Amino acid sequence: MAQDGPASMNLPKVAVDWEDTPKAAYSVFESRTAQNCAAYLLPALQSLKDANPRVALLDVGAGHGSISATLARLIPEGHVTAVDINPDVIPRAKVIAESYGATNISFQAGDIHKLPFEDNTFDVVHCHQVLAHGKDQVGALREMLRVTKPGGLVASREGDMDSEIWWPQTPGMQKAHDYARMLITAHGGGGCSSSGRQLLSWALEAGPKRSQITPSYSVWHFTEKEDKERWGGGMLNVALAGHVRERAVKAGVKEEDLDEMREAWKEWIERDDATLIMVQGEVLIRK
Ligand SMILES: C[S@@+](CC[C@H](N)C(=O)[O-])C[C@H]1O[C@@H](n2cnc3c(N)ncnc32)[C@H](O)[C@@H]1O
Repeated sequence: MAQDGPASMNLPKVAVDWEDTPKAAYSVFESRTAQNCAAYLLPALQSLKDANPRVALLDVGAGHGSISATLARLIPEGHVTAVDINPDVIPRAKVIAESYGATNISFQAGDIHKLPFEDNTFDVVHCHQVLAHGKDQVGALREMLRVTKPGGLVASREGDMDSEIWWPQTPGMQKAHDYARMLITAHGGGGCSSSGRQLLSWALEAGPKRSQITPSYSVWHFTEKEDKERWGGGMLNVALAGHVRERAVKAGVKEEDLDEMREAWKEWIERDDATLIMVQGEVLIRK
């Protein structure tokens, strides 16, 4: 089961409705592609495609679907089914798919804990940064395995917020990290801020033998101005604004701390020497 790491600031928990994410946050998600978020999967996907080009791929928790659409472009004779628990993301995901010229893709609502598919349906079942937002990661992986064909692949990549390091190390950035971590662990009644390091453990608990699992780790960094504007902008416009901020204040987070975090993010976006680095855990499970 998910275990929490240590917290360095004693913040009250704030329930966040990420599904209500304002448009300002779109670019954080929509810059994601199969190439920059699922590179660990691509060689195995190519091998499956070489054996049978009609690859059936399920992307769970697809969100705005830029990873789903770019995966679809890689398997033109195959098909991607993009599923999200929140049906409201589907219209935007369709726009993104069109912008990539991906036509071999369909969208539907569905819960990773109860996928609306028969056993052994897909060659590949993928999720990116979805398990961190729930409580039962092992159950979710078991469900992904259930709908995967024998010989097929489950692929998952999860961030590890507790591994984050950043520069400059100002007090405001430390508070901003603690606050973001609190939002993740409060989500859905208990998300996980150390998913990247626990992913292999969850995969083993889900049932496969160690020899069926290929773990890997990659590093996210936000150092170029454009990337910092996206990430820091997401923090400024979502985590530290609107309904999320209102709920934080109601839960007891001080306005002056929230303002200090906003100033810290603005400075971080502007400074040429600023950076933020986070480990991503990845597993490929052969069923
Ligand atoms: C951080 S976003 C990641 C979206 C996308 N995979 C990406 O990386 O751009 C998490 C997504 O998981 C979805 N989600 C959360 N819980 C889910 C569940 N139980 N079943 C399916 N999707 C879920 C959310 O609605 C959201 O779109």
